[in-house]
Amino acid sequence: MLHLLTLEEWTAQRIHDVLDLAARVKASPEDYHQAMHRKTLMMVFEKPSLRTRVSFETGANQMGGHGIFYDLATSPLSSGKENIADMIRVMSRYADIIMCRLFEQKHIEEMAALSRVPMINGLTNYAHPCQILADLQTIREKKGDLKGLKLAYLGDGNNNVTHSLMFGCAKVGMHISIGCPSGAEYAPLDTVTASAEKTAAETGGSVHITTDAAEAAKDADIVYTDSWMSYHIPLHKSEARVKVFNPYQVNAELMAHAKKDAIFMNCLPAMRGYEQTAEVIDSPASVVFDQAENRLHVQKAVMITLLEAANNA
Ligand code: CP
Ligand code: NVA
Repeated sequence: MLHLLTLEEWTAQRIHDVLDLAARVKASPEDYHQAMHRKTLMMVFEKPSLRTRVSFETGANQMGGHGIFYDLATSPLSSGKENIADMIRVMSRYADIIMCRLFEQKHIEEMAALSRVPMINGLTNYAHPCQILADLQTIREKKGDLKGLKLAYLGDGNNNVTHSLMFGCAKVGMHISIGCPSGAEYAPLDTVTASAEKTAAETGGSVHITTDAAEAAKDADIVYTDSWMSYHIPLHKSEARVKVFNPYQVNAELMAHAKKDAIFMNCLPAMRGYEQTAEVIDSPASVVFDQAENRLHVQKAVMITLLEAANNA
């Protein structure tokens, strides 16, 4: 059964195929209006969402399918009356495809091992593969061929979006440079770095991690940042984290280290005055709403791909 749990286990070929399909879906959505005819997408949420929830449900509807929002807060699982294994065994008897936004990566892995239908990671603390597919689609639209481009990521390195960018950029032969504070709380997981470095060595890309924000941003084609307070970070850490991440804020001074035609990206939600200034996110270099739009198109391509694979299994 083909799932999308992280980009690590997807080949570069599959990533490129999905991006190609996403471009066709975006250009001619009517050609795919029956691609999920009478199919049910189950959407399981343990954390808040705007983009993921609305783009997945819209995507399924546009392709003749139906999305069901399932809030774990009101589930038998959350009240301790049911376990994950039973929940997924039941759910996968109803739905044709399941997308989950959870805290723990190990929970989605456990579910995928028992599911009768394809599963999609709609964000865990560890990874956010759908976001990075939309980002790669956006970068391709703005910059053309992905291979050889430099993406600078600034801010929280121990982060789902950072990890998935590392896997994704390495797969397609891009150079990723991460500017983040040192230490396990703020830097990417060593296992992710090792895996991305190994992939990059095969594709001609590279992975670089530095505590120097200007060095990370130097000559970048893309400057990317994400929230300093991800959904799973407790509120009491806010003050300390703002202090630690402040040197990595993406502002006009930092953008000046990147290439003149560099684009600015943020997966959203964004806080002006924190991980980036309003001047940057609201500038012509910012492509954040194209990123958000491409979640819709690329996730339609992901659902088509996974449903076809399940059908042919
Ligand atoms: N970028 C993203 O996944 O946004 P949501 O948290 O609103 O789904
Ligand atoms: N790193 C962020 C991404 C939000 C889409 C979070 O986990 O909250």
